[in-house]
Amino acid sequence: MGYLDARGRSYLGRSEAVVAEDVRTEAQRILDAAADSGWITDTPVIYQHPLAYLLGLEGIALLRAFSGLYDRDFTLARLREIQALLDSAEEFGDGVEARPITTCEGYDQWAPFYDEPGNQLLDIEQPIVREILDSLPVGVALDAACGTGRHTAHLASLGHQVIGVDTSREMLARARDKVPDGEFYEEDLHDVPLPDDSVDLVVCAIGLAHLEDLGQALAEFVRVLRPNGHLVISDSRGLIGDIGLPLVRVGPDGGIGYMPTYARLASDYLAAALPLGLQVRRCEEPKTPSPLLGDDGVTLYDGVRLPDPVPGDPPSIWSLHELAIEATNAAWRGRPAAII
Ligand SMILES: C[S@@+](CC[C@H](N)C(=O)[O-])C[C@H]1O[C@@H](n2cnc3c(N)ncnc32)[C@H](O)[C@@H]1O
Repeated sequence: MGYLDARGRSYLGRSEAVVAEDVRTEAQRILDAAADSGWITDTPVIYQHPLAYLLGLEGIALLRAFSGLYDRDFTLARLREIQALLDSAEEFGDGVEARPITTCEGYDQWAPFYDEPGNQLLDIEQPIVREILDSLPVGVALDAACGTGRHTAHLASLGHQVIGVDTSREMLARARDKVPDGEFYEEDLHDVPLPDDSVDLVVCAIGLAHLEDLGQALAEFVRVLRPNGHLVISDSRGLIGDIGLPLVRVGPDGGIGYMPTYARLASDYLAAALPLGLQVRRCEEPKTPSPLLGDDGVTLYDGVRLPDPVPGDPPSIWSLHELAIEATNAAWRGRPAAII
């Protein structure tokens, strides 16, 4: 069977055994080169190679096929595509190393663009969070990790007296513009600057993924909540299970940094929340719409085709997807985008 990849190359007539052997040899060559050059270290610097992401997608797709979701042709097409990707390894450059940066550094830089349309996670999360917020009694509301005030503004429009806390000065500046009557603090969620039993509602949207210790932040939320108060949490999910994709950014100095991100299982939130006396009233895990890409590689959510990946830049997974359309759609299939 002939097969064309997203770059229009065709793969014909190789036996699967030869393909598998070639894949093993090429993978070993890349691994040896990585070890020789010190790429593999135990420091917190992370290493992102575009091929690592693409081959990871292929791997997830193959596991889905192995479990029965896809057929023989799909599996063999994946093996050929892996071979082709490895054959063109040099076109992807050497990948990038990124050092950890603080969320203040990361979000201060992101703030001017954060509210621009096109963030699918926010579009998926927002209607569900708003539906919950709209059903709760009006009072004093804390937006914890309020960012640019996306939910703070909605809470204010519902009549709440709103307080926002965030560590990013630039994100807070946007929130202050949006909600001039709000009370805002440049503080950490680990140490919320409010007295005990002082708020009726805490909202923490897509912020906990940045915290290593869920328990401490949740304990702070419970401390400031009045008895019978409400806590609404949303968070991003990993690509698969506990595999999160850290946000990588090119800093003003040209250096590459990433914000550590913790992808959690639903049970991790429960394990942190239940001992604090919190009771779960509702839980949603809205999925990323599937398929993610059309046959032409365009993201179906917004119809956008991103520019080709630039070797030496941090790999943009969205640009890479069109190099492995079927694998991307299979790997992302059924992925929860958020937990609420
Ligand atoms: C993805 S944004 C979400 C912003 C807003 N809640 C929303 O949903 O649009 C994550 C926010 O968490 C903030 N953040 C991260 N770690 C924090 C911490 N330890 N304490 C306070 N804010 C934090 C960041 O500065 C950023 O504004």
